[in-house]
Amino acid sequence: MRFNWKHILIIIVFLAACREDDNSDIITKPKPSDTTTFGDPTPFNLVLPAHFILIPPPFIPDSNPLTVEGIALGKKLFFERKLSKNNSVSCASCHHPEQSFNDFGLAFSPGFNGQPSRKNAMPLFNLAFNSLGSHPNTFNWDGVAASLEKQALLPVKDPIEMGEDWRNVAIKLSQDPQYPMMFGRAFGSIDIDSTKIIKALAQFQRTLISGESRADNELKSQLNLPYTGQRLTAQELRGYQIYIDEFKGDCSHCHGLGLGGSQANPLWTDFGYRNNGLDANPDSGLAAATKNPSDLGKFKTPSLRNLVFTAPYMHDGRFNTLEQVVDFYIDSIQTNSPNIDGFMLKPRVLNSQERTDLVAFLKSITDSSFVNNPAFRP
Ligand code: HEC
Ligand code: HEC
Repeated sequence: MRFNWKHILIIIVFLAACREDDNSDIITKPKPSDTTTFGDPTPFNLVLPAHFILIPPPFIPDSNPLTVEGIALGKKLFFERKLSKNNSVSCASCHHPEQSFNDFGLAFSPGFNGQPSRKNAMPLFNLAFNSLGSHPNTFNWDGVAASLEKQALLPVKDPIEMGEDWRNVAIKLSQDPQYPMMFGRAFGSIDIDSTKIIKALAQFQRTLISGESRADNELKSQLNLPYTGQRLTAQELRGYQIYIDEFKGDCSHCHGLGLGGSQANPLWTDFGYRNNGLDANPDSGLAAATKNPSDLGKFKTPSLRNLVFTAPYMHDGRFNTLEQVVDFYIDSIQTNSPNIDGFMLKPRVLNSQERTDLVAFLKSITDSSFVNNPAFRP
């Protein structure tokens, strides 16, 4: 048999294969993971809507800067059911992205064993701007959470919401094939603990920026900023006039001058804690955090963004529709409630057309791009 070029080629390929086999052990042998070293995580640049230049910059603590790897980990954790005792609920079970991170129309959201939450779930957006107001960077209806990081400690150990022990959470995540490396890339070591978990969750939540609605377009046009899409209709603009009119709706003292040109606050809340007169004998509210009797009945003023996704309304979800909310402010304020806000004491008088216009305006602050943003989906 004569050797020709084909035989030579086969031998070369065979030798090459052997070489690779011989070395494969060395090439792919995994380093013991606990000694793996990780490079610095990649800084993340939070892009803000142009008109947010009107408000103070987002609060991002030096101890927890935003990074690409931290945000990716935080997003995975936000949708992670292992954070609950029986691996049944995640943060997203009560905070659905398609509902502006609120629940599907429930006053109270079922926790890990089906029991209802004590308060109405809150939508999640623009949380990094919560640095405004009299109690900056406090969270929940009653302000008991002293930072966005600390807020996440509460639902996990809450006996109704997730009912889990933080140590168990860390153990479960350590046994997962993906988490140890993700923690390594985000925080420099594969060790998992509650501090890193709440930091990652806060990083993801700080990226939830909502600033695109027809009302935002209206403000951008006032500021000569470019915008795409529609502005407000004549009816919605009438509704805004009622909203700011001190003798009609008078809503802007607490929910902000959203269309106030260079004075505008596009967050639609001043983040203040106030008693808006829902009950003669109110729930504790901010007093739960401050232990101060003069804070009894005061609740965080919610943003008026994305209300079409977040019914029912108020801290206990008592109103199913915005019509009911407006009727309450006009007809049913409990003026004898302790610590009631001064802005609640003067009568508001609106005819039925004006009420309809006000509701139409409230619905115009709807950011569909936010609820459809693929960056916020698992
Ligand atoms: C069983 C439902 C449920 C689960 C699960 C849940 N939440 Fe909530 N969330 C709520 C309720 C109810 C409130 C209002 C609590 C209060 O005021 O006492 C809330 C409030 C919040 C707030 C405060 C927002 C603000 O503007 O002050 C944040 C932030 C938040 N949740 C994030 C999370 C994160 C992160 C997780 C997962 C670790 C989570 N939630 C799990 C129901 C839930
Ligand atoms: C004195 C401050 C103040 C004024 C003025 C005010 N609100 Fe409120 N608003 C609040 C507070 C505080 C809450 C939360 C109360 C609670 O749940 O206990 C709230 C809740 C709401 C909610 C429910 C949002 C949600 O996510 O559940 C809507 C809608 C609303 N207000 C609209 C209005 C409108 C419309 C007006 C004017 C007619 C108005 N508010 C005037 C302070 C105010």
